[in-house]
Amino acid sequence: MGQSQIKFYYKNADAEAIGAEHGIKQTQLEKLLGELKEGLSRLRSKPELKAKEDAYRRLPYDSRTVDKVNELVAKFRADCDNLVVLGIGGSALGNIALQTALNPFLYNLDDNQRKGPRLFVLDNVDPQQFGSFLDYISDKLDKTIFNVISKSGRTAETASQFLTVRKLLINKLGEGALEKHIVATTDSKTGTLRRIADDLSLQCLEVPNAVGGRFSVLSAVGLFSAAMCGIDIDSLLAGAADMDDRISSENFAKNPAAVNAAINYHFYKQGKRISVMMPYSSALYSLADWYRQLWAESLGKSKDLLGAQVYVGPTPVKALGATDQHSQVQLYREGPNDKLFTFLEVEDFGTSVEIGSSPKVAKELDFLAGKGMGMLLNSEKKATEYTLLSNNRPCLSVIFPQVSAYTVGQFIYMYEVTTTFTGALFGINPFDQPAVELGKQATFALMGKDGFCEYVNLSYTDFAKEIKSKTNIDAEFLL
Ligand code: PA5
Repeated sequence: MGQSQIKFYYKNADAEAIGAEHGIKQTQLEKLLGELKEGLSRLRSKPELKAKEDAYRRLPYDSRTVDKVNELVAKFRADCDNLVVLGIGGSALGNIALQTALNPFLYNLDDNQRKGPRLFVLDNVDPQQFGSFLDYISDKLDKTIFNVISKSGRTAETASQFLTVRKLLINKLGEGALEKHIVATTDSKTGTLRRIADDLSLQCLEVPNAVGGRFSVLSAVGLFSAAMCGIDIDSLLAGAADMDDRISSENFAKNPAAVNAAINYHFYKQGKRISVMMPYSSALYSLADWYRQLWAESLGKSKDLLGAQVYVGPTPVKALGATDQHSQVQLYREGPNDKLFTFLEVEDFGTSVEIGSSPKVAKELDFLAGKGMGMLLNSEKKATEYTLLSNNRPCLSVIFPQVSAYTVGQFIYMYEVTTTFTGALFGINPFDQPAVELGKQATFALMGKDGFCEYVNLSYTDFAKEIKSKTNIDAEFLL
């Protein structure tokens, strides 16, 4: 492509680097790459799983969606000062990650730094937070677009935000305001939000049917807010396509997603069940949050593909370099050797901040004076890596030549595929999330929904009773 590619570096997880007890040997890696081929064949032999994998892997090439997104951006952007995303989980984390990675730190605060509307992604139903936001936005509605994102359309958090905003818009601007101020991103045919959107003639974008929430950032789910805020979505998707080319290699020894999956699986099996992603870049920090959901919801499963109980799943943890060196690294080096570390490193930050000179009374700070802050941050990364390696802790790195739409697109795609491949090694379904669904249904019951909950085979009333019998405070245990 002639553009820069991210690199995956794994020497410091190898037995040669950290010793045979804690590192992975080349023979073990080769064996696992063979097992991965078999695992993928098993996963892909199930048509519904194959369809789900194919669906997110088609996204980098979906020009129809890009056209539709661009059409709506052209329609709304000029007159929009505030874009508010209402969504949760896979309908929010990717939007936050793209914005944090690809727009300036003070984007929302500094009009000179922003290329589009301010962006707010409200992914909670905390009344203090939401109430404060409503106070802020209520007199700015005429220049505000709400992008409500929900594949199912009935997730309680997003539905309640949507109902609140709908009421506000009607009260302040009248019924006719809804179609001018709301863009609904949802399933193309079914679901509650689709029904509402059709009824109210809202502008709509689609979540492709077989694409699960946490695999949807490269669909209209993530693309609309990104494009509204001036992010180059063509470059983002081109980066994903570039990575698609690399991770489609049948030569798994050269395939970054295959090697990453095999290494992650190996260390989990060796008792290193915690996977720490630690970007040395504030811009990339929210990508670690996005990864946490992708990894946890996809790989934390109680059953394998044959229905046997397995209770597997690495625990993803995010940390930020250099900040968390002063919070977590003591534990990481000297606590239990039960973690695999993945650093995200940026070679060129695209901007330089020169450290000031030191005063006469503090000559011991001379070594910093005149150096670039990027050099300091990257030295800190190496310092932490050294600290961990010298206590036999396995470390991986993903190296970004720079943070751009093109490299972020590669990273997102590489981790989506790595997740699928790791799921194949575990022999589980990486595309469902039954525990999330149970939580959703339990919330419906507690909020007084009528009818029958097929998910637990109880009426919602009885389900609520059952939940309360287990969760109501028992005074005997209350200190
Ligand atoms: O990855 C997933 O499937 C979930 O995290 C969903 O994205 C999340 O629960 C929100 O669901 P919905 O988009 O249906 O509101």
